[in-house]
Amino acid sequence: MKITSSEYSVSAVREDQYPRDVLPEIALAGRSNVGKSSLINSFLNRKNLARTSSQPGKTQTLNFYKVNDSFYLVDVPGYGYAKVSKKQREQFGEMIQDYLETRANLEGLIIIIDARHEPTTDDIAMYNYALLLDLPILVVTTKMDKLKKSQYNKVQSNLRKHLDLNHDNVTVLTYSSETKLHLAELNKWIEDKIS
Ligand code: GTP
Ligand code: MG
Repeated sequence: MKITSSEYSVSAVREDQYPRDVLPEIALAGRSNVGKSSLINSFLNRKNLARTSSQPGKTQTLNFYKVNDSFYLVDVPGYGYAKVSKKQREQFGEMIQDYLETRANLEGLIIIIDARHEPTTDDIAMYNYALLLDLPILVVTTKMDKLKKSQYNKVQSNLRKHLDLNHDNVTVLTYSSETKLHLAELNKWIEDKIS
């Protein structure tokens, strides 16, 4: 799929703020600072459409980006950020769960994990929760550019150690927003889910 247009559409914290034009949506979830917003920018070939930061906790609302006037990418606030209050964490959780569990036009979920580390407790919880949603899931290990080639094999085994990837609806992809490693595969997966 060729990306011909992309625009920020709306930010939402509850259902009545979601876009009204019901198009297919693909959501991105992952730990704070893992690189969700960066993946959106690299995928769309935009430098700063989704706001990124070296400080975790940048994205605090569901941010909808309209692509090719035909589908939405939904940037979801990161989990596992210690500095937000317990109350805020619970509100984040509720906002994300409401969206993931009720949005009928949600066609796929991309779970982003840092390629350099084993999945965290939060990553494992997110993944196991996602399995219950009965959606196509793409597990993306990002920041691959920070690894040496000799460490590539370890990425898959780290994942398998903690996540049961043996499901028909689950695909795994290594990625880098810097080098755009496997951008074509990411594009293909998304294209497939929205059509
Ligand atoms: P929150 O919105 O806080 O949840 O974070 P996020 O998951 O959206 O992360 P974001 O895209 O803001 O990226 C966090 C930091 O990681 C930034 O400093 C990015 O430049 C960096 N980063 C993201 N992806 C990559 C990557 O593939 N390679 C490298 N080297 N750095 C990356
Ligand atoms: Mg972000």
